[in-house]
Amino acid sequence: MSDLSGKVALVTGGAQGMGLAIATRLKADGARVVISDISGTSGRAAASSDAFSFREHDVCDEEQWADVIGEIEAQEGKLDILVNNAGILGDLDESSPIDTTLENWRRVFAVNVEGVLLGCKAAIPAMQRSGGGAIVNISSISGLLATPYNTSYGASKAAVRHLTKTLAQYCVEMKLNIRCNSVHPGDVWTPLWEALARRKAMETGVSVEQIIDEEQVVSPMGGFTKSEDIASAVAFLASDESRRITGLKMIVDGGVIDLDTYHLRKHLNARRNGHTSPRPEYESPLRA
Ligand SMILES: NC(=O)c1ccc[n+]([C@@H]2O[C@H](COP(=O)([O-])OP(=O)(O)OC[C@H]3O[C@@H](n4cnc5c(N)ncnc54)[C@H](O)[C@@H]3O)[C@@H](O)[C@H]2O)c1
Repeated sequence: MSDLSGKVALVTGGAQGMGLAIATRLKADGARVVISDISGTSGRAAASSDAFSFREHDVCDEEQWADVIGEIEAQEGKLDILVNNAGILGDLDESSPIDTTLENWRRVFAVNVEGVLLGCKAAIPAMQRSGGGAIVNISSISGLLATPYNTSYGASKAAVRHLTKTLAQYCVEMKLNIRCNSVHPGDVWTPLWEALARRKAMETGVSVEQIIDEEQVVSPMGGFTKSEDIASAVAFLASDESRRITGLKMIVDGGVIDLDTYHLRKHLNARRNGHTSPRPEYESPLRA
């Protein structure tokens, strides 16, 4: 557990999934937590069952950001922690850079990138007023690992990573005592991931369970990362225990990125196909 007693936190997209798990963890660690979400119905339901404060809030709207931060300062006295968690996958029909529509690209960037920028622009002056703070931006391993698919989403999450470093550098240079780090989840079972799995299952004519099994094989540690695993990383980065950490990309993915999974996946596929050699024949993707 991190010690967040006395701190005030805002978690965007906190009505469900990872945002709700993060809010729950920050509260358990002692913070006073406000969640915000574009969905008033699910936000109010989450807030009443978990005793958070809730603000209906579209992260793409700059005026709403000013209102939300202003209300938090008025009611809680300050803001110490901002978790920019709200995000969307965008159009599930987008299957390649060629299929990408400008409309989808702009919508994904509006929520995933502009939402983070606006949040930081509004929160940093408030954090300055209270002597410092910590910002945690939820990116993704999709922002670090390009694929021929998820064009808009991958690019938006890469932008979040870059923006995080820019913000961290700015805060250090201006001596604001505000840290800014990004967290990069792998596959986490949330309503967002469930929608993706259902879509993949429909497209490929297999069951959702099969899609889940295949995804679990991709992770070197096996299984899905849990929302609570992401929440632990966020709690650490939000707390004073990480006071010397800024600009970090914290990857929480069961080893997908850092364990060189290209080779591991080949090995696992070979084993699944009945080959026992630890060095299966590697095929060049360019030759296939
Ligand atoms: N689930 C995963 O496997 C995974 C992996 C990597 C990164 N992420 C990222 O983690 C974050 C949370 O994902 P999740 O899986 O919990 O998603 P989710 O869809 O379950 O929850 C996202 C929440 O954000 C809210 N939201 C969407 N647009 C908003 C807007 N414009 N303003 C305010 N709120 C808005 C939604 O209403 C929802 O409550 C996202 O940034 C996502 O990209 C998820």
